[in-house]
Amino acid sequence: MSDTTSSNAMWGGRFAAGPDAIMEAINASIGFDQRLAKQDIEGSRAHAAMLAAQGIISDDDAKAIREGLLTVLSEIEGGTFPFKTELEDIHMNVEARLKDIVGEPAGRLHTGRSRNDQVAVDFRLWVRDQCDAAEVALTALMRALLGQADDGADWVMPGFTHLQVAQPVTWGHHMMAYVEMFARDRARFADARARMNESPLGAAALAGTSFPLDRQMTATALGFDRPMANSLDAVAARDFALEFLSAASICAMHLSRLAEELVIWSSAQFRFVSMSDRWSTGSSIMPQKRNPDAAELLRAKLGRIFGANVALMTVMKGLPLTYSKDMQEDKEQVFDAADNLMLGLAAMAGMVADMKARPDDLRVAAAMGFSTATDLADWLVRELGLPFRDAHHVTGSLVAMAETKGIDLPDLSLSDMRSVHDGITDAIFDVLGVDNSVRSRTSYGGTAPDNVRAQIARWTDALGKEVKS
Ligand code: ARG
Repeated sequence: MSDTTSSNAMWGGRFAAGPDAIMEAINASIGFDQRLAKQDIEGSRAHAAMLAAQGIISDDDAKAIREGLLTVLSEIEGGTFPFKTELEDIHMNVEARLKDIVGEPAGRLHTGRSRNDQVAVDFRLWVRDQCDAAEVALTALMRALLGQADDGADWVMPGFTHLQVAQPVTWGHHMMAYVEMFARDRARFADARARMNESPLGAAALAGTSFPLDRQMTATALGFDRPMANSLDAVAARDFALEFLSAASICAMHLSRLAEELVIWSSAQFRFVSMSDRWSTGSSIMPQKRNPDAAELLRAKLGRIFGANVALMTVMKGLPLTYSKDMQEDKEQVFDAADNLMLGLAAMAGMVADMKARPDDLRVAAAMGFSTATDLADWLVRELGLPFRDAHHVTGSLVAMAETKGIDLPDLSLSDMRSVHDGITDAIFDVLGVDNSVRSRTSYGGTAPDNVRAQIARWTDALGKEVKS
């Protein structure tokens, strides 16, 4: 028998010598997979209890293992655990330490199990927790947006297409647009969670095992809905992590669009919102500046989540079934993406709660750029029976006239208007103001303040029924 100190204590049986130092460096994952410690111990404790219940190991051994694992966990949580690179990963670090603590029974824990199903369980549990955390963080962000919407359900602001003023909308409507987006993001995490909630434990290396495991028992103990039905799939699948990264990428894209708006809105040119000192930074040279650094950093950082998604897709795409060591590269991507997602969600919720809109500046901006031209055209259709194309043409002429005179549409005189179309009456002025414009957008989903208030009430009710985060 070879010396297990010079080779590996866990799999060193057929190895005479230890690994090259560089081999050890490229092989080791303990530097990052120690983040799976809690999940690893949870999985092992469930496995040990099941082995005893099935009569595969003794009750005494299971008890020693399960208690010993709790000691290991407290060492890890207390920061006293001696992580060792030569023990490669979290699974072997935990098992080796368990052996120090409880002795011989530790060697029975790995019966009917492999690191392949073990890591699949650990990682699924970890990603599942992140889905839950994302849902909580998204709910907090939705609440912050609802608060903003409620403050300004009828504040008029410009609605943009092509970043050109298009039609007046309300601040509340704009905020509620993000509530809808983040609600879908939340649902994506929930969907991904439901699909990933099956247990790989008991698939062993890839083929299952000859030991009479009770896979339903471990699945239930770990909060999974059921054991995965195919052992090859159980150890080979990483689509659960990719679904998390995909949902995270879409959510990051939404966060980044909002961050972009905050950057634009807080500029001196727009002046739509201001941020308090808590969410602004100064310039070292230009004393007048207040920079929206948090929004900019958020916008930039979230790109890492797209990167993680592409990186893991690339790791997986060429792998034959079942496990390949390439898959050890799944974790750092997901850890980094999850950390940045959580930071981004928290920062955005903080900024949204903090920002103050400037209703007067919003209103002035809303009237710019002939934003009620569509209202004028619609009036011509409704009141004079013009075909919309003709109304569009008449309105275009009126806009050109106002532009030449350097005034806004509602400031044209009736006689000016009648010179373009003699059917126009005084009543036209009722639809030209920005307030009239938004008030008239009563179609379902439109920007009319009454609609917006109804949507705010619907979401406040829906979120109110959920557990407060
Ligand atoms: N550290 C490994 C990983 O993260 C655990 C699985 C190792 N399995 C193996 N057959 N070498 O993927």
